[in-house]
Amino acid sequence: MNFDKLIDRRGTESAKWDLMEKSFGVSPDDGLAMWVADMDFEAPDFLQKAVRGLIDKANYGYFAGIEGLETALTWWLETRHDWKIDPTWITLTGGLGNGIAMALQTFTQPDDVVVTFTPVYHEFEVKIGKTGRKNLQLPLVQDEHGLYRMDFAAYESQMTGAEKLVLISHPHNPAGRVWSVEELKELAEFCVRHDLLLISDEIHSDLILPGHKHMPMHIVAPEIENRLIAMTSASKTFNIAGGRTGFVIIPDADLRNRFRAFHRSLDLSPNLLGVVLSRAAFSPEGAAWVDALCGYLDGNAALFNEQVSAIPGLKAMPMQSTYLAWVDFAGTGMSRDEFHDRVYRKARIAATPGHTLGKGGESFLRFNLGTQRVRVEEAAARLAEAFSDLQ
Ligand SMILES: Cc1ncc(COP(=O)(O)O)c(C=O)c1O
Repeated sequence: MNFDKLIDRRGTESAKWDLMEKSFGVSPDDGLAMWVADMDFEAPDFLQKAVRGLIDKANYGYFAGIEGLETALTWWLETRHDWKIDPTWITLTGGLGNGIAMALQTFTQPDDVVVTFTPVYHEFEVKIGKTGRKNLQLPLVQDEHGLYRMDFAAYESQMTGAEKLVLISHPHNPAGRVWSVEELKELAEFCVRHDLLLISDEIHSDLILPGHKHMPMHIVAPEIENRLIAMTSASKTFNIAGGRTGFVIIPDADLRNRFRAFHRSLDLSPNLLGVVLSRAAFSPEGAAWVDALCGYLDGNAALFNEQVSAIPGLKAMPMQSTYLAWVDFAGTGMSRDEFHDRVYRKARIAATPGHTLGKGGESFLRFNLGTQRVRVEEAAARLAEAFSDLQ
């Protein structure tokens, strides 16, 4: 578990490194890739062993073993989150983006309105648009600690009656807000009050920084079980997004049957590599690795946020989970083009532009800290230099 070991991902078919020049004009040769949400760490031994086992068998035909994965996920959710699920609630998807798109198509009609709390993972809006649904973006507000909060009182007047479903990132991408039990209960009440289904996307729920605790939506609000579509995956936690595997967990039989019927109509099957990787991830070795990883990410977050917030005009939001730092450039007084130019061209950092994450994200950039500490230090130093005239 040497998270400090530098890995050169250039030329390895990594989207984050190999597409950064095309996307941001930042060369991978002297630039830092801090956009796409995957990590720069070497895959841990237990994953390598699982893939080698697959290679050693030299057989890539139709396969059995999905039950083993469902058992592993069930074990994981119970040991890590005290969430006891029935394995029959699980449906495998081709990643969670795919799970979200299928859930939108199963549970809503074209032109129905889907609520999101923004800024949020940009693909929520993209998927809502691609499936022909409409997106009502309800802006998050920052509290006195600079943390995002849902503001249900303010949302009431924005609801039109056409809303059918809420899509939430729990914990939140970007900035990693770990929603509290009280907030989640309020969300459940909001869903009941407006007769909404809820997709609780819990893909980041294992990347919880020390001192915080993720509470699965189903545990917090069992009374909305008949509205709940929960989702998770090993892809962010174990850096195996290339395995394209996600889990849609629906406790309610009626909702589950509807989702399965749509899923069956697409004739979608899991893939061997994703199953092998996810099964190996949800294991005692996986648990030990994630514990160490979260400690390391916490160190990265503390260092980056402290150094960046010391730069006049820049403010990093406190992080409670994930490796996605969220930095506000509003205090620089610069136009979007100008602060982007300084980050992309002066600091040579490829970071995700905040306006793509929806209402409220315009003055921000998202920096991926899922990398070696020296790169995080380098990024903070480059930002200090790029904005040094504001000192
Ligand atoms: C909140 C959230 N949901 C879903 C995804 C995408 O998951 P997948 O790669 O399994 O499609 C991401 C990726 O960053 C994410 O942040």
